[in-house]
Amino acid sequence: MDKSKILTGHRPTGPRHIGHLVGTLESWAGLQDEHKCFFLVADLHVLTTDYAHPGRIQDNIRNMLADWLAAGIDPQRSTIVLQSSIPEHAQLSLLFGMLNTVARLERIPTYKEQIKELNLQPSVGLLGYPVLQAADILLYKADKVPVGEDQLPHIELARETSRRFNQLYGDTFPLPQGMLSNAPRLPGIDNRTMHTSYGNAIFLRDTPEETTRKVMGMYTDPTRIHATDPGHVEGNPVFDYFDIFCLDREEVKQYKIDYRAGRIGDVALKRRLAEVLNQYLAPLRERRAEFSSQPRMLMDVLYSGTARARYEAGQTLEEVHKKMGLLPGQVFTMQVTHPSGAFC
Ligand code: TRP
Repeated sequence: MDKSKILTGHRPTGPRHIGHLVGTLESWAGLQDEHKCFFLVADLHVLTTDYAHPGRIQDNIRNMLADWLAAGIDPQRSTIVLQSSIPEHAQLSLLFGMLNTVARLERIPTYKEQIKELNLQPSVGLLGYPVLQAADILLYKADKVPVGEDQLPHIELARETSRRFNQLYGDTFPLPQGMLSNAPRLPGIDNRTMHTSYGNAIFLRDTPEETTRKVMGMYTDPTRIHATDPGHVEGNPVFDYFDIFCLDREEVKQYKIDYRAGRIGDVALKRRLAEVLNQYLAPLRERRAEFSSQPRMLMDVLYSGTARARYEAGQTLEEVHKKMGLLPGQVFTMQVTHPSGAFC
């Protein structure tokens, strides 16, 4: 058994969609058999851009959590962590801020993209986004970080931070490695990248009826006017979906032949795809309905994982304080006392 430690996470920006499912959640679920896994609910990271909508975060956390569990993230085997409930994330991020220059952070592509896309004046928090992410990873001394390609520059910063720390203060942190999933990228129903805010996503919490409606409105081959015209399979999201969700390979092969020959219409094809997709999602939806009907249980899962993680976080921060020359014994053992003298 590979004993490597894995940490990954998502910002709770809303419910998860089927692109998350096949791109990340299914592979996360599979990692749990052989690795010690930490799954982080990165709620502090949400605030780096979306700090003006405090009403949304809690709902988004609950929705994301129900989706994670439904997709097979197992709190018995893995540790689910609420970032904002473990102060050591913010503390380590502050200390790592000392080891990273502003110029280095300004060169990170996601930072430049966000400024351009959202047309905003960057905050200290946004500039420090990858520093906080480095703290998330190194706080638990994770060696592997499954992420999408866009996150690799952040992993690189975590590696540099680890190296720099070890150089200055002695061997402390591993060199974390990014792990790219080889799952195919699922397009949205309009054939652009599937994105929560583009209006082109099929969500895990959608009903079978909603799913069918979305599939029936899907983009197909725009060059095809009549069902008898020869159609294009490549670049046609209907077939991308069939390839991923239809377990009967022969059936898919036959549809492709018929489509190219102009023997099957888009409507018939989409009807079948809706059935296939609903069938694929049925067990997940059943689990999801069960979890979302028990909000207390969801929160218990979150807090018991967080409590377990906090022990490890405290150990690491204690070690970091010592190595950086701060007074030891403060972080982990100090009790919080009320002015009256009572322990809280
Ligand atoms: N930045 C990641 C994303 O947007 C979320 C994240 C926060 C993360 N901390 C992390 C991912 C640590 C991996 C490891 O998807």
